[in-house]
Amino acid sequence: MNQFKVTFLPADVTVRVAAGTTIMAAANEAGLPLKSTCGGAGTCGRCAVKIETGEVQIQGGRLPARMEKEGYTLACQTVIKGDVVVTIPPESLLGQHQVLLQDKGRLQDSLTDLLGHYPLEPACSVTSLELAEPTLTENASDASRLLAALRKEKDLEASLDLDLLRKLPDSLRQAGWQIDVTLAATNNRIIQVVPRGTGRAYGLAIDLGTTTVAVSLLDLGSGQIVARNGSYNRQAAYGDDVISRIIHATSNEGGLEELRQAALATINDLISAILGSRGINPAGVTAACVAGNTTMAHLLLGINPRYLRLSPYIPAAAELPTLKAAEVGLRINPGAIVQIFPAVASYVGGDIVSGALFTGIARGEELTLFIDIGTNGEMVLGNSDWLISCACSAGPAFEGSGITCGMRAMAGAIEGVTIDPETLEVELEVIGGGRPAGICGSGLIDCLAKLRRAGIIDRTGNFQDVTTPRLRQTDEGPEFVLAWAAQSSNHRDIVLTAADIKNLIRSKGAVFAGIQSLLKTVSLEMEAIERIIIAGGFGNYLHIPNAVAIGLLPDLPPEKYVFAGNTSLKGAELALLSRPAWQEALELARRMTYLELSAGNLFMEEFVSALFLPHTQLELFPSVGNGSGSERSLG
Ligand code: FES
Repeated sequence: MNQFKVTFLPADVTVRVAAGTTIMAAANEAGLPLKSTCGGAGTCGRCAVKIETGEVQIQGGRLPARMEKEGYTLACQTVIKGDVVVTIPPESLLGQHQVLLQDKGRLQDSLTDLLGHYPLEPACSVTSLELAEPTLTENASDASRLLAALRKEKDLEASLDLDLLRKLPDSLRQAGWQIDVTLAATNNRIIQVVPRGTGRAYGLAIDLGTTTVAVSLLDLGSGQIVARNGSYNRQAAYGDDVISRIIHATSNEGGLEELRQAALATINDLISAILGSRGINPAGVTAACVAGNTTMAHLLLGINPRYLRLSPYIPAAAELPTLKAAEVGLRINPGAIVQIFPAVASYVGGDIVSGALFTGIARGEELTLFIDIGTNGEMVLGNSDWLISCACSAGPAFEGSGITCGMRAMAGAIEGVTIDPETLEVELEVIGGGRPAGICGSGLIDCLAKLRRAGIIDRTGNFQDVTTPRLRQTDEGPEFVLAWAAQSSNHRDIVLTAADIKNLIRSKGAVFAGIQSLLKTVSLEMEAIERIIIAGGFGNYLHIPNAVAIGLLPDLPPEKYVFAGNTSLKGAELALLSRPAWQEALELARRMTYLELSAGNLFMEEFVSALFLPHTQLELFPSVGNGSGSERSLG
């Protein structure tokens, strides 16, 4: 088959690909993955590129008229027919996401604080032994000699598997019978035998998110976090959300394996970077704990995810057995134990269980609402007596996806907006302080609240007849200009369109309807909530009064709100360090009630009521009123 050269600008990276390859696939090959909300179906417009020279064939798809005029084409719908030169605009590049590793955590910043509740009993530990050398008369096998010594000196009934047995004879003799043995706490399986004094047990906590992946390396002996690292999930090239990934996995031959490999490549690259920078041998990492949503867990393990999205939405397994790194594909000690956080249901996964563990919502009597607003709004309500959870498809709008100029909370993102009520002029707060490139979730919330307060939009989100050059008509409807091209870092106007506003209102409506559905199911009023914990990077920049003003979050005093950062990662760290914590996570998942929002009318009725700013029932938002005109103390 003919091979052609594809050169990507401005990175100036060239790859050779077969004729008929899409520009999207070639960019992936070149290590320059492009954004994709639709999973390459040609409907989202996120993968726009410019063909500078060369022969291509455009197969279809729908590009926003504005971009078509500017000479863009959809990478997922453009097939290579000869050597080509392609420019990737920065907004189409998936790029390196800033991943939440250190946060403004106002709950428990230090793992040591958290371990106050739990003993340090790590998933793996190292024990030192001195074995008697075999002789013609003391001629027990190597394995028997090792197991007998553990029994006698440590009172441990251990086991070993074939992989370890294959290496054992040399390991014992090279160590001169003075050894360090690494044992798994779950079943006392021997993971590694090394010369005495060289054994260290490291563990990896992995937060496998739909958009980003974060990894931390822990010294299981001391309980210290050695390093953290994070990047975007390479699966993003196959779609932004779990549904498009499931569709890719189940409707393309080899699709599931592509997604498994993409997740593994992401994790393994992060592991290599962390271990390489610290000079740690991968064999020394003998435990891993993965927290991810149910779809991510299925895809990582190559388990068919088809039935997760088909009613009645049944996962292949909610609780998974302890696995070995070699069977999962993690590049650490092949015999390392891998524990995967249990799920509650198809859309309340191990990441939420991990977060519930870390935040300790089941440890006290205080009625707590724990919310993770990501692609899905997942939430848990309860205390030590009971727990109820649900997931509402909020969509990725608050992660900046599906919004014309949306982006994640990173340098260059607009995180705050002020609109002068008289002149309707705009002031922006940009993360990092430079020129804006787009607008992130907290900026979108702020913007919606301020547009409403300035009377530029009404309670349904429709633009009003106001006079300002910032409000203009386009072929695709009205839009409001937040930053003019001359001010922005990508030399394009940063806008919020009427369609963006509708999208945001649907997202916020879904989250609030989820909260109301949980409360109504247990016959409680909003005021009964004593504490609201917000998880995820989103919370780091979130301005609570504005989130209340648009009706995303309940109208409760700000002091009831707590930001907890990346609770999925922190829960995985905790579970690695303390067996009792891991046992508690298993129990949490088993006893958490799951409310399926698509069963019955409750959620839909709540959702429809929540499609206003802030809500149809203004009495639910006493501090907001109708949200317009007066500059109240909402900041
Ligand atoms: Fe190309 Fe969505 S239009 S990925």
